[in-house]
Amino acid sequence: MEYAIATKDLTKRFGNFTAVDKLTISIKKGEIYGFLGPNGAGKSTAIRMLCGLLEPSAGSAVILGYDLLKETETIKSNIGYMSQKFSLYDDLSVLQNLNFYAGIYSVPGQERRKRIRELIEISRLAGRENELVANLSGGWKQRLALSCAIIARPSIVFLDEPTSGVSPTSRRVFFNIIQDLARSGMTVMVTTHFMDEAERCNKIAFISSGRLLSVDTPENLKRNSLQGHLVELDIPHAPERTEEFEALPYVKDCSIHGPLLHILLEKEEYERDLYEYTGVKAQAINPSLEDVFVSLAKSRRVGENHA
Ligand SMILES: Nc1ncnc2c1ncn2[C@@H]1O[C@H](COP(=O)(O)OP(=O)(O)OP(=O)(O)O)[C@@H](O)[C@H]1O
Ligand SMILES: [Mg+2]
Repeated sequence: MEYAIATKDLTKRFGNFTAVDKLTISIKKGEIYGFLGPNGAGKSTAIRMLCGLLEPSAGSAVILGYDLLKETETIKSNIGYMSQKFSLYDDLSVLQNLNFYAGIYSVPGQERRKRIRELIEISRLAGRENELVANLSGGWKQRLALSCAIIARPSIVFLDEPTSGVSPTSRRVFFNIIQDLARSGMTVMVTTHFMDEAERCNKIAFISSGRLLSVDTPENLKRNSLQGHLVELDIPHAPERTEEFEALPYVKDCSIHGPLLHILLEKEEYERDLYEYTGVKAQAINPSLEDVFVSLAKSRRVGENHA
């Protein structure tokens, strides 16, 4: 099995602060690999190292068969990168931006028109070719930024929170495009805070405080990550009562989901004790990815406090 990306103990320190701590991951070709974690977890830092934009403090990585430390320039010319704050030129049109990036990425002159036509098709940008970027809505800008990032047909594209600040409809369209790209063989590494997007990744890596806590398919994470019996409880003043429930001996975990509480019981039989305590019948539910991540993030914090 050949991996598009394989890292070993990749680490980034800023002074004596460790932003990415011994990250070891492998990503298959054509996979959509989601990077999730709280703010400051180290997602952008990891991506910037993998793109050759930031020098690792320790560890190694092989990207498309090239050594990240020794063959950085070759790697750079085979990947695309869309940063958290995508850089388009507001005072240029859609076409002018695409042409500009075609120049930056040295797409040969005779191929440019064909490639730009393709990208306008792939990215659903038709009809807006001559519009100034300043006049485009977030979803269109985002699809244009993606097109600019992949204009040179990279084998891997890194997308750092590509859908923040974009409408839910545009986010879905954007992910459809990502899935098309992956089907065509492109490897996609994407960071997101949205669970519906995480669900559409082939693999999800969850990192917190620079460390990889879990990596698996969305299905396996939901099936295997929570040890216990999960229920949903609809009670008054739910948001203020998580600590109260966590103090109960048979409750492993309690978190807020909108107006409801999700409570992880040690065992199913404790549903009865919970009912006696609250007078409200709880509903057994299947864990969502959100439940998994809340639980992972909490276990990490507990670990830190005990360290
Ligand atoms: N150049 C730098 N110098 C010092 N510290 C940095 C630098 N870049 C990032 N950090 C720190 O490293 C940590 C990880 O930052 P990073 O941007 O990688 O997180 P992230 O997971 O992308 O977060 P977000 O979800 O907010 O984008 C943060 O604590 C950040 O302040
Ligand atoms: Mg970031």
